[in-house]
Amino acid sequence: MQALLLAGGLGTRLRPLTEDWPKPMALLGNRPWLEHLIVMLKRQGVDDIVLAVKHCPEKIQQHFGYGDRWGVTIRYVVERTLLGTAGAIKNAESLLRDRFLVFNADIIQTFHLRPFIEGHVRRGGGVSICLTEVEDPSHYGVVEQDADGRILRFVEKPRPEEAPSRKINAGIYMLDKAVLADIPAGKEVSIEREMFPGWIRKGVPVYGHDTEGYWMDMGTTKRYRQVHRDLLDRKLDLPVSGTEVERGVWIGENSEVHPGALIVPPVLIGNRVTIGEKAVIGPYTVIGDDCRIKSGARLMESILWNRCTVETNAVLNNCIFGHGLTIGTRHVMHEAVMSRIGVSYA
Ligand code: GTP
Repeated sequence: MQALLLAGGLGTRLRPLTEDWPKPMALLGNRPWLEHLIVMLKRQGVDDIVLAVKHCPEKIQQHFGYGDRWGVTIRYVVERTLLGTAGAIKNAESLLRDRFLVFNADIIQTFHLRPFIEGHVRRGGGVSICLTEVEDPSHYGVVEQDADGRILRFVEKPRPEEAPSRKINAGIYMLDKAVLADIPAGKEVSIEREMFPGWIRKGVPVYGHDTEGYWMDMGTTKRYRQVHRDLLDRKLDLPVSGTEVERGVWIGENSEVHPGALIVPPVLIGNRVTIGEKAVIGPYTVIGDDCRIKSGARLMESILWNRCTVETNAVLNNCIFGHGLTIGTRHVMHEAVMSRIGVSYA
C-alpha cells in the first residue's frame, strides 16, 4: 500500500518552533511525530511512502533518507512554491499508484487503516475521508452524510444548533488517481476547501469513514502541549522511549539523575541526559536527548527538545523549547515557546 504524506506547510501557528523546523518533525515523546507515523504505517502494511515537502525539506530528508531504517521506501517531492493540500497531491502525481492513502502529516492519530481501505475498495473507489467526532465542532468543517455514509456537504464552523453532526474531516484520505484529473496543475489548491466540495458537486463518490482512537491536530502550541499530556497519561498509545523506572517515569539510555534530584511523575527523560542535585522535574515534563539540567533547576509542565541546557536554579513553567537552547542561571520563564529564532508566549 502507498501513502502520500503532506508535510510541506509552514506551520505558522506553531511558530517559533516551526520557523526552522517542519511541523510534522516536532518531537512527540522525544521522537519526531513523522517517525511515529511512518512506523505505524509500516506496521499496517504501508511501505511505499511519498513525502510532499517544502518548508525545511532537508530536515526531513536528512532524518529519513530513503527509509531503509524503517523498512519502507521513501521518495520526496519538493515544491518550489507552496501548492496547498490538493496542489501538493497533484504535484506528486507521477509517483502515485492507482489507489493511495493521503495523510496530513501533522495529525496525531492511532487509527486502524484496514477497515478504511477495505471500505474504499468495496465501494469501488472515488474519494474516502476518515472522520473523527469532536466535542465542539464549531471550529471545524462538519460533514452531513446520507444513510450509506456518502458525504452530502461540509458545513464550515457551524453554530452548535446548526451542526448536522459532530463528525469532522480527520485529515486522512484514500483517493483513486483518476480524481486527480480535476485538480489544476501548478496552482495552489486546497483539498478541504476546494476539491472536496467540487467533487461532491460533480457527483464523484465522496464517502466518510468513522474512526475510533486518538485524534488530535497538533497545529497550535495549546494542542501540542495537550498531545504531550495525553502521551504521558497514556491516553495516547504511542511507544515511549526509555525504561519506565517507576510508574510514570521513563528514562532513556546513559542518563544520570542525581540522587538528590526530585522527579514528580509523569516525566519522560531522553538519552544521555544529566540532571543535577536538587533539580525538580515534573509533573508533565519531557526532556529530550543530550539535555543538561543543572542543580536546583525546576521544570514543570515543560517540553524540551534535544541538546538543551538549563542552568543552575533556572525555572521553566509550562514552556516549550526547541533544539539546542540554553536557559541562563536563575532565569524564570512561564508559558514561553522558544526556538533559536525567537520566543513567543502562548
Ligand atoms: P499553519 O500555517 O499553522 O496553518 O500550518 P500548515 O499550513 O503547515 O498546516 P495545515 O494544518 O494547514 O496543513 C495540514 C498538513 O498539510 C500539514 O501536515 C502541512 O504540512 C501540509 N501542507 C499544508 N500546505 C501544504 C503545501 O502547500 N504543500 C505540502 N506539501 N504540504 C502542505
